[in-house]
Amino acid sequence: MELELKHPLAFVPTMGALHAGHQSLITIAKSYAPNVLVSVFVNPLQFENPDDLAQYPRDLDGDAVKAESAGATFVWSPTIEEIYPAQPSIINAGELGNLFEGVHRFGHFDGVLTVVKRLFDLINPQFAVFGEKDFQQFFLIKKMVKELALPIEIIQAPIVREADGLAMSSRNIRLTSDSRTISLVLSRALESAAQEIDINKARKVLHEVLRAEPGFTIDYAEIIDENDFTLATEATLSPRAIIAGWINDLRLIDNMQMNCGGTR
Ligand code: PAF
Repeated sequence: MELELKHPLAFVPTMGALHAGHQSLITIAKSYAPNVLVSVFVNPLQFENPDDLAQYPRDLDGDAVKAESAGATFVWSPTIEEIYPAQPSIINAGELGNLFEGVHRFGHFDGVLTVVKRLFDLINPQFAVFGEKDFQQFFLIKKMVKELALPIEIIQAPIVREADGLAMSSRNIRLTSDSRTISLVLSRALESAAQEIDINKARKVLHEVLRAEPGFTIDYAEIIDENDFTLATEATLSPRAIIAGWINDLRLIDNMQMNCGGTR
């Protein structure tokens, strides 16, 4: 598919299977630039598990309709040869790439940064929009852009939730009806922890709510400083709780700003 570039350009990179969360990124992108390019590319480099890559939902025709109805001016679905014509030089996500998500998804963030940098090089957008749902990803992309002094403004888009609180994700279509009920434990735990103004209490509540749901297996549940990803203390001005875990063979993540720490 020929790449059509008109500037000023806001870019929304995706792996497809678009939902209302992606559409909100497109709407936000449109408020920054008249031209909005949405890419749909399932990046093999960021999948540490071949089954997860094989099962990743794909619906290019549906994606084009959803992207255009949200305001995209161009939907681009590059081939693997276009993105990686030669062996790519991998961008190392550094120490943080091996923490939290990185512990459980070895090499994942190296793959994400490598493809995002490659997409930026091909497109040269003035703006790029990323969802807060993948908060560690957002943080690492912002850090890369700063360190490489790329002339791109990175826009942070809030999480879009279902009416009952579940954060939207392309993987949600794999939830059975029982797992769908269990999945609400993530937002429930975050909402409960966000009620607490004492950080130790917030951490305790986060874990208590998650542990009370036997169908959910925790990978991690922490409160970090969203400015540097260190563990939050009572002095932290911008604490954010981050959660990941399993419901049967499906891994879900979520996060939320907290009200504990130095914010009060
Ligand atoms: O968040 C995603 O969908 C992907 O990680 C991204 C940023 C499109 C890179 O493949």
